[in-house]
Amino acid sequence: MSDRPLAFDDIQGDILGGFNTDVQILLGFGATEDTGRAAAFAWLAALAPDITSVADVRLNRTAMKTHETCAGATPIWLAVALSKALLGFAVPDVLILDQAFHDGMIDGAASSLGDRSNPDEWVAGAPSRPIDILLKVAGNDPGAVTARAEALLDDALSRGLTLTYRERGDRLPGDIEHFGFRDHISQPEVLGDGTAGGHAPGRFLFGYPRDPGGRPPALTVDPHGVTDNGSLLVFRRLVQDVQAFRRFTAERAASLQAAWPGLTADHLAALIVGRWPSGAPLAAGQRADPRATDPDDSFDFFGDDDGMVCPFGAHIRKVNPRKGSSDVVEVPRMLRRGIPFGPLFDENPTVERGLLFLAYQASITGTFLFVSSRWMNSGKSPGKGDDLLVGRPFDDRAMLIHGPNGPIELRSGGLQWIRPTGGVYLFAPGIAGLKKLCAITGSPASIATSDRCDAEVAAFL
Ligand code: HEM
Repeated sequence: MSDRPLAFDDIQGDILGGFNTDVQILLGFGATEDTGRAAAFAWLAALAPDITSVADVRLNRTAMKTHETCAGATPIWLAVALSKALLGFAVPDVLILDQAFHDGMIDGAASSLGDRSNPDEWVAGAPSRPIDILLKVAGNDPGAVTARAEALLDDALSRGLTLTYRERGDRLPGDIEHFGFRDHISQPEVLGDGTAGGHAPGRFLFGYPRDPGGRPPALTVDPHGVTDNGSLLVFRRLVQDVQAFRRFTAERAASLQAAWPGLTADHLAALIVGRWPSGAPLAAGQRADPRATDPDDSFDFFGDDDGMVCPFGAHIRKVNPRKGSSDVVEVPRMLRRGIPFGPLFDENPTVERGLLFLAYQASITGTFLFVSSRWMNSGKSPGKGDDLLVGRPFDDRAMLIHGPNGPIELRSGGLQWIRPTGGVYLFAPGIAGLKKLCAITGSPASIATSDRCDAEVAAFL
């Protein structure tokens, strides 16, 4: 069976390829009452034609880089995602068969994500300030992005929506995250998106096969066709304590001099991440960053079966064990589209900073949640050792690193440098799906049956 081609003019541009712009403003809106939800869809109906498709991104990528379209204006790209409650309001007979999406992030934060923060204090997605719509306004010209976000906000507020979250993300020099490491290097290739190989699109999008030549899996029950070309979005707001991470690596590197003479704080940090700050993969015998300008992502862990080069506990090996002789049968992959927020620590150490972690996939339960709970937060799998960078066990975490004189156990001492401060699981529709949702909304039948959703999902899952 030949697979259906990807609908580039319908799939949102942030999902495939990604916006990758310098500035991204996130606007979160709440719509808890039926009147608010109806207002939300009226606003979305006006917005839908402006949502950026993959085709738009491809057409305007150069203009985005040079800051100009043929009309002379700098392009701005928009992406949107909706809550389960909002989807259920419009189409109560549509079900997304994903336990995590169904339960919501608040429900599983403590049990599945090891997140001990109090949701009432979340900056994003707190129960009193829910995010039913998340809008991403993206571009390279900060003034133009801000002006567009302001205009969209004014329009939304004038239509009765409530702003529940607002934050600006900025690409840092060299595409680094706040600990100083180049981020977003490793992304799964999607079959049909300019590559002959890669993962079948059904891993990331509804309506496509999960394996080449296969049938699209039944991830939704959707009599209206509103989920086609859609995806599920995970948003986590993660605060990074740069000072704590730097202090830890400096102090531990100093205390390990007897076991590993000459070990530097930067080298230790690289062993915790699994790459050098430039993004270069770790290799045997290195003592410093080779400063790759174009970081390699084609490596695997064959030949490093003991974790001698890249520790099993290194962040990148916990979340993607790649190929090696102790192969994991299948590595769930997600399309990471996050961006840092807050200024560099050295520019302004006093304010909050971190990562607006955003990732698309067709199954949150089978992807983000699996990778987080079964691997990143586990000291046992896929390899032995804790992820000291992001992993959530709160007690002492430990990983093995291999110095010139043998293995060394690196312990966190119960310290953490990532603090979750909220988030949400959302549905990112295809553009046609979004328009259909807006058209359907308002029909009295859909409002009358909106309570059915929970019971029916429970029966399916
Ligand atoms: C503030 C928190 C985080 C920081 C500082 C961070 C940092 C990094 C860095 C520096 C890389 C290597 C660059 C790259 O390969 O793209 C990376 C890779 C990755 N991270 Fe994180 N990360 C964070 C949170 C998370 C979370 C919550 C997840 C979700 C499970 C995650 C999943 C991944 C994945 C899947 C990769 C790619 C690994 C690979 O394919 O080699 N990260 N991260």
